[in-house]
Amino acid sequence: MSPLEDALETLRRGGLIGLPTETVYGLAGDAARADTVASIYELKNRPTFNPLIAHVSSLEMAEELGRFSDLARKLAETFWPGPLTLVLPVAKTNPVCDLARAGLDTQAIRWPAHEIAQKLISAFGKPVVAPSANKSGKVSPTTRKHVEQEFGTALTDILDGGASVLGLESTVISVLGNEATLLRIGSLPKADIEAVTGPLKSALLDEDAPKSPGMLSRHYSPDAKLRLNASVRSKPDEAYLGFGPSSVDATMNLSEAANLTEAAANLYAMLRTLDESYSAIAVAPIPDTGLGEAINDRLRRAALQD
Ligand code: TXA
Ligand code: MG
Repeated sequence: MSPLEDALETLRRGGLIGLPTETVYGLAGDAARADTVASIYELKNRPTFNPLIAHVSSLEMAEELGRFSDLARKLAETFWPGPLTLVLPVAKTNPVCDLARAGLDTQAIRWPAHEIAQKLISAFGKPVVAPSANKSGKVSPTTRKHVEQEFGTALTDILDGGASVLGLESTVISVLGNEATLLRIGSLPKADIEAVTGPLKSALLDEDAPKSPGMLSRHYSPDAKLRLNASVRSKPDEAYLGFGPSSVDATMNLSEAANLTEAAANLYAMLRTLDESYSAIAVAPIPDTGLGEAINDRLRRAALQD
């Protein structure tokens, strides 16, 4: 059997697989099965009040899960398949188990662009839930090997889709009626969405009552201590993660050409690599425009200590 057929078999048995997507790798399972979903929370060490994204392979499949307003449909038609997650009111026909929604009356839905993810979900014929395939609070995986490092032998079916081309999680917005609210900054820049919606409301800073637990402050963290907006390394045993051509003596460089798309794709893999050999990492300033907003968001969270 091919790896894809093996993975399908595993999904049908209620097991979990590692799924490549264009944003980050996911830990995927049958969205309808509460026992499967419970095993995702358990393997990730994820609090069960943090709901999961249901991944689909067509607009028809998405429409069984959530109620699309005109604005939601327009966003789906513009950006799907791709790095946008829509949080919509639950549809009556929704087969996703309550546990995956953490009991909420909204459903997060995404149609990923990665060919392997699309093939797998359409062959399965049903939505799969897939949080990022990392232990809760840790850096998201962008290669098959990262997923293996996170879960070891507890996860045997990890499909190899190469390095995730975008490298940061999807942007999450809720669309309730014709009002769109930004819940998580991500791979789809806010300005691209606003070209369709007009100015977005933002619920990002509402830390006391998070609508999207992905905005809990500490998240996406390496073990090493991070120092941001650093122009030089302060001590010899601190790694320096550079950005742009002037970071000449950087340990690693997110993008020598100062290209934010390249930097986003490199961020998690480089944090992982440096985390293996250093206890401290200084990071060069990253411009706060376009994808830079999402990169800086993840860096700020990674810099928070317990
Ligand atoms: O790029 C991605 O989105 C990746 C790949 C694998 O698709 N997945 C991912 O999933 O990042 P996860 O579980 O790590 O993040 C899902 C985010 C969390 O911040 C969660 O709180 C939020 O989506 N979310 C899920 N359902 C929600 C809902 N009903 N209301 C508000 N936020 C929700
Ligand atoms: Mg995650």
